[in-house]
Amino acid sequence: ANGLPKRPGRLPFAPVAVTRADIVTVPEGFQAKAFIPWGTPICGSYPAYREDGTNSAQDQAEQTGMHHDGMHYFPIDAQGGRGHNSEHGLLVVNHEYIDAPLLHPNGTTVDANGNRTVPEEVRKEINAHGVSVVEIRRTPHGDWEVVANSKFGRRITAATPMEIQGPARGHPLLSTLYSPNGTATRGTQNNCSNGFTPWGTYLTCEENWAGYFATRDSDLPRELKRYGLGTKGRFGWETLEGDEFQRFDATRKAETASGDYRNEPKHFGWIVEIDPFDPQSVPVKRTALGRFAHEGVIFAPTQPGKPLVCYSGDDSRNEYIYKYISRDKFHPGHPANSHLLDEGTLYVARFNADGTGDWLPLDIHDPLFQAACTAKGISFADQGDVLINARTAADTIGATKMDRPEWGAVHPETGDIYFTLTNNTNRTEPDAANPRASNAYGHIIRWKEENQDYSAIRFGWNIFLLGGPEDDSHGPDGAALTADNVHASPDGLWFDPEGRLWIQTDMSGSQLSAGPFGNNQMLVADPESGAVKRFLVGPVGCEVTGITATPDFRTLFVNIQHPGEGSTPSNLLSTWPDGPGKRPRSATLVITREGWRKVL
Ligand code: FEO
Ligand code: CA
Ligand code: CA
Ligand code: CA
Repeated sequence: ANGLPKRPGRLPFAPVAVTRADIVTVPEGFQAKAFIPWGTPICGSYPAYREDGTNSAQDQAEQTGMHHDGMHYFPIDAQGGRGHNSEHGLLVVNHEYIDAPLLHPNGTTVDANGNRTVPEEVRKEINAHGVSVVEIRRTPHGDWEVVANSKFGRRITAATPMEIQGPARGHPLLSTLYSPNGTATRGTQNNCSNGFTPWGTYLTCEENWAGYFATRDSDLPRELKRYGLGTKGRFGWETLEGDEFQRFDATRKAETASGDYRNEPKHFGWIVEIDPFDPQSVPVKRTALGRFAHEGVIFAPTQPGKPLVCYSGDDSRNEYIYKYISRDKFHPGHPANSHLLDEGTLYVARFNADGTGDWLPLDIHDPLFQAACTAKGISFADQGDVLINARTAADTIGATKMDRPEWGAVHPETGDIYFTLTNNTNRTEPDAANPRASNAYGHIIRWKEENQDYSAIRFGWNIFLLGGPEDDSHGPDGAALTADNVHASPDGLWFDPEGRLWIQTDMSGSQLSAGPFGNNQMLVADPESGAVKRFLVGPVGCEVTGITATPDFRTLFVNIQHPGEGSTPSNLLSTWPDGPGKRPRSATLVITREGWRKVL
């Protein structure tokens, strides 16, 4: 269908079977080793991991965080700059969230009301979130190691100072006690998937940040209401006194929103740019890309003299897929390409029933957007207001509500854009692009921009794969999935350099505990032949997420997140990777093929 010649033998391995074993399974001829698990020292005084949970909050700020998610490998050249080296680089890893009890010797400490009582515990939890920059090197023995005394090693946490850029910088809605002029903030969190720019910086995406903030107000402004804040934070950080914790309590306490912490949650839901090669650099929240539950961000291939284009999904039930087109043109090697992420237009997708689609502008100066606002009686003060309220703007212009958009990937040869839609049990009305009511299993959609021009505002789409059991699914060839590839809840998505699509799953609850799917898994699809094979099954209770490779594709990095999710120190549901009696730890898998060949 995509016009590419069929190349046989593109998936040269026997698919692994579904299993619920507490191990990582890969096909014969391949190896998967755990690397940089939670607690690995990577900077500062390189404090050793203590398996009884007694590492301090400061130790945690110098070790890898918990719950590895999106990541990227940046090769280093001999001079320590951006290069092409496949055996020495910076692995930059998101730490999405935490299994809090495992961070402490005897679980979390709370009082009779469930409030937190130990500031040091909460500081450690804050430091277990964020991003790690890890300098790594392949040893002569063929293993990968963390480079000691690295000048690049760095932890970014949910408390690290950051800058706000783009159209919402300095907006009155972003005025806080910490930054009255709304230009600075602290921390990034719920960093799920990621992206990387054509100029070699890392992008980390803030997904389920709303759960960390509490508000007991009933009359919430749309910037809070539309994003689902609860009355209690996920880990109760806001129940401790002091600015460093109270900033998570967005309840009205003062005369104005800038006099308390009501505006603090508006500093989250952004994409954050980090320069991993400059350890002194201040991370920047890029507001032109909109504020929502960003799963990840994926760039279209760049063309010199053309605008920069990237895509991002809002992973909540019935939310949207967005596209950003820069105002200015991309010029390779330009020292200030980052500004392309500050000036541009954010669009949102409408998938029409006839297989066409439209990118609808969320731009206060665009007549189409203005007409939609007038028709619906909704107004925005300025473009900063539109971006802070991106969900409301997308509602207004009539975008298509999707089944939880997760990762995207661009086919390196056809240019088609693929997106996972992980599931949506809240869907009552199926539509063409989300064809199942109560979609428990998820699917993968793909589209081609009109005239294969990434700045086009029209596209054509179809459904690539429908996840699910053998009697309720189909693969790329239209046939039902089989024992070799049955899966549900696709989430992570990545194209290797030769156009094979790697699919990672994030099943939970009953899909994990019983039924045909086993533990979470990673599959490989060949869009040309329609073949899909299961390549990896993870340990008990984990999610398989995050994927990047060295330029020579001899090393593939994949993350195992939250093995034994829900464990406490006295009830270990998995003991991967350290073995019996040891707390489970999220970790990166180093995947290689026998004979130091390309992985595929
Ligand atoms: Fe954090 Fe949408 O997965
Ligand atoms: Ca995740
Ligand atoms: Ca995800
Ligand atoms: Ca997910």
